[in-house]
Amino acid sequence: MSAPQSMTDRIPHIPVLLEEVIAALNPQGGDLVVDATLGAGGYTRRLLDAGATVHAFDRDPDAIAAIRANPVKWPELAMDPPRLVLHPRRFSEMAEGMAEAGIEAVDGVVMDIGVSSMQLDQAERGFAFASDGPLDMRMSQDGPSAADFVNGADEAEIADVLYLYGEERQSRRVARAIVAARPIATTGELARVVRKALGYRPGAPKDPATRSFQAIRIHVNGELDELDAGLTGAETLLRPGGRLAVVTFHSLEDRKVKHFLRDASSAGKATSRHLPQVAAADAPTFTGVAKAVRPGEAELAVNPRSRSATLRSAVRTDAPARNAQRSAA
Ligand SMILES: C[S@@+](CC[C@H](N)C(=O)[O-])C[C@H]1O[C@@H](n2cnc3c(N)ncnc32)[C@H](O)[C@@H]1O
Repeated sequence: MSAPQSMTDRIPHIPVLLEEVIAALNPQGGDLVVDATLGAGGYTRRLLDAGATVHAFDRDPDAIAAIRANPVKWPELAMDPPRLVLHPRRFSEMAEGMAEAGIEAVDGVVMDIGVSSMQLDQAERGFAFASDGPLDMRMSQDGPSAADFVNGADEAEIADVLYLYGEERQSRRVARAIVAARPIATTGELARVVRKALGYRPGAPKDPATRSFQAIRIHVNGELDELDAGLTGAETLLRPGGRLAVVTFHSLEDRKVKHFLRDASSAGKATSRHLPQVAAADAPTFTGVAKAVRPGEAELAVNPRSRSATLRSAVRTDAPARNAQRSAA
């Protein structure tokens, strides 16, 4: 498969919090690491350079094709055995994908949740409102698109999506305007409808369409369910002492990661001396949960898109994964 010209030659994706992610994973020669969100391979490159073997997942066929199309940059693909293995699938299927490759445990998992610059900057992928393109937003390039959703869902469902995933306080008003304007075919049309509903004045500091675009993208790609399943998959796959690093780009996702690590690192801990002692069957699965890390001034100056990024990381204990603990109980 040849990669689209634009993916290989045009827009670089600047890896976010790269040094911090690599420090959290602390890769060693011979380690086996899952990069759950390959993108342009910024993290993968550094993991390979540290001597790790990387199994990289991406649900976007263009991202996988762009790496395959560049064997000079990715010689590890052709090594025997390969030190870079590509999995064109969702990271919610991480454990299955690795099992199919004959691997049950890994030393690290990194997830960099969200869209890449290549996806955002290509109008034809339909993620952005800054440039006009077909209303698509599907990372996997299959299944129902954003246009299917905005033109087919009922008003109440659209309002719920805008409220839940975009934290749009005027979700009902925006949903009403969307339904009245149907059919909507392009990102530009949708942006105009949302702005008009919210009384946007050109030049205002933040485009109010941002929240609705984020919400529809999260819905179309099932991103929060993917994140839940990815975190569970990482817990299943990481060996004792293995490291998890997760970068998110908005508060809904960060909250999920924070709660996951809080629950995983305190599982079964008695919060009161009157409560029963820790049961061996629900011991904490993560420890060493690090404080959230955000980009510093220097990174923000070079890469403004990193501004809402948050990194959380932790180390796997030797307790069985909680889904295994529950099914054994
Ligand atoms: C922010 S980019 C990753 C950038 C990468 N860390 C780098 O340095 O180049 C996110 C990538 O993850 C992919 N992605 C998002 N959700 C995914 C999922 N649920 N399963 C697999 N890939 C996913 C997107 O297609 C995109 O290519």
